[in-house]
Amino acid sequence: GGKPSIGLAQQVYCNPGDEVIYPSPGFPIYESFIRYVRAVPVPLHLDESANFTFSPDQLANLITPKTKLIYLNFPSNPTGGVASKSLLEETTRIILENCQPNVRIYSDEIYENIIFDGKQHHSISSVPEMAERTIIAGGFSKTFAWTGGRVGYAVFPTIEEADEFKRLNINYFSCVPPYNQEAARVALESPLSEQAVKKMVETFESRRNLIWQQINEIPGISCQKPGGAFYLFPNISGICENLGLIEKHDSLPLEKQSSPANIFQMFALYEHQVAVLDRKSFGQIGADGKHFLRLSIAAEQSVLEKGILRLKNAGEDLSGLDRFLKERPDLTSA
Ligand SMILES: Cc1ncc(COP(=O)(O)O)c(C=O)c1O
Repeated sequence: GGKPSIGLAQQVYCNPGDEVIYPSPGFPIYESFIRYVRAVPVPLHLDESANFTFSPDQLANLITPKTKLIYLNFPSNPTGGVASKSLLEETTRIILENCQPNVRIYSDEIYENIIFDGKQHHSISSVPEMAERTIIAGGFSKTFAWTGGRVGYAVFPTIEEADEFKRLNINYFSCVPPYNQEAARVALESPLSEQAVKKMVETFESRRNLIWQQINEIPGISCQKPGGAFYLFPNISGICENLGLIEKHDSLPLEKQSSPANIFQMFALYEHQVAVLDRKSFGQIGADGKHFLRLSIAAEQSVLEKGILRLKNAGEDLSGLDRFLKERPDLTSA
């Protein structure tokens, strides 16, 4: 799938002590793999008030002579944030001014076709001077709703770099099963694909509109409107306050502490039967005090509406929460 090349990039480009900049919140492997290669994680915190993008100055402040890799992911998992062309142009300026030519941008564009509001996807590789510094990553899991196929790809700036990846790939995975490669070819070449993908994206967009509106009606929740992908990333600070989750979290024994949002995640799952993920699932460094959940809208509308109702009920169920904390101490650690 699209995932392996994320970790392989760190193995190919980084030595111990090198620094890797990655979006936070972001796809979990960006941060979690960095320690495996003994590089140094440098989170680029996405700003809720800027609909989960970043400012070029923020990036400039993180770049040092040790920076080797910079991950970008638009449209984003988990926030649904998208990058404007001007943000990518500004980012390019910062990179050209501050980075050695051997620094690589890993542009994870796996949600490139799932964009709403009539907007277009922009890739940093199409900004002048960036093609030779960018690895473009994509895959078939999202555009073709085919997570089980495990087909993904990365495009490299040089043949030598692609060869290095090929050597690792061959030894880790051998290959994508040929019948799945064939299915991927059909998906790419079929004249039916464009219409099918368009219809899927329209369905995601109408679900996004509905669920975004409904979730913002829940007391204690506020949610930015995602511009792409199929996730919502609501701020649940109000729920944490209403349920006293911050104090309840802080009074747990140290080894049981994860985050207030994680307690709510487990409570919602076990007591109200709705599955969400907490902020810390998407990068731990600097996540304390940030109270968010990630919801996926890759399910039928009626199921999603039921889920929203259950989240609302969970957010108001103070006595249920107290009972849960007493009866299920096994579920309140990370
Ligand atoms: C941002 C991002 N990148 C990469 C992947 C990997 O996709 P896959 O391995 O399913 O192709 C995912 C999957 O959720 C993702 O959200």
